Amino acid sequence: MVQEWMDFACHLAKGSGTLLMKSMDSMRTIDRKSTQSDLVTDADRASEAWLVKEIRQRYPEHRILGEEGTGDINDLHKDGMLWVIDPLDGTVNYAHQLPIFAVSIALLRDGVPVVGVVYLPVLDELFCSGQGKGTTRNGVEVHVSSCEALGEAVVATGFAYDKHLSERDNIENAARMIKKVRGIRRMGAAAVDLAYVACGRLDGYWEEKLQPWDMAAGWLLVKEAGGKITGYDGCPCVFSEGHVIASGQALHASMLAVIQPYAEKYGIGSPSAT
Ligand code: IPD
Ligand code: CA
Ligand code: CA
Repeated sequence: MVQEWMDFACHLAKGSGTLLMKSMDSMRTIDRKSTQSDLVTDADRASEAWLVKEIRQRYPEHRILGEEGTGDINDLHKDGMLWVIDPLDGTVNYAHQLPIFAVSIALLRDGVPVVGVVYLPVLDELFCSGQGKGTTRNGVEVHVSSCEALGEAVVATGFAYDKHLSERDNIENAARMIKKVRGIRRMGAAAVDLAYVACGRLDGYWEEKLQPWDMAAGWLLVKEAGGKITGYDGCPCVFSEGHVIASGQALHASMLAVIQPYAEKYGIGSPSAT
């Protein structure tokens, strides 16, 4: 069954990606959601509408949670099958015609991802994972990096849309991390960050205030590629809490140590439970 769901999720991601590519140049409507950085375009909505139609046709008994208004966030805590979709991750990039954006699709069984697919249409890169089946990029198996030292690591992060308004803006973490690593990248799409950790292009990634649709597919990509992914407290990552540290096994403890003071300061998770 997992293979059938994976194949379907790949079909969904490719179909949606093609839609996004077609409307990239002609895109007209850019609206603000919560803040000046939080945008939604007509393409986000069209992509979600197409995905929902396809899933309902194929699996009418499954529930769906989509960023652009489909479903109910409380479904995350219910048993059964739940598709968690971000129809366009990296909307700010997309709206600025920057080519780093993706479609992110996860299927959860009783709250746990069993399928995770992330597709970058401009690069035509399809990342696919299934529980117990590993992670592939365009059909070829990939693994997380074996990097052990922060000094040799290239890591990524992001800054939440409420950064203008909130003191909890991740800047302290970035300031501490930049002094220790080879480089920091800000891709602008959490699903891409996680996919790139899964294939070892990035040695690590951390971010907070994410939504379940930003991270559910990428979570499985990283796990199945042999990586470690936790919250800022080192405990298993909880999608509804939205803070995440993902890396190869060897680097995780060092990343966690850099972020721990911030986690303690803001009472994120339970930092003593590492
Ligand atoms: C956003 C991107 C971004 C991250 C934000 C997300 P969206 O998703 O993943 O990298 O920093 O927190 O909300 O709005 O482009 O789907
Ligand atoms: Ca997103
Ligand atoms: Ca989105």
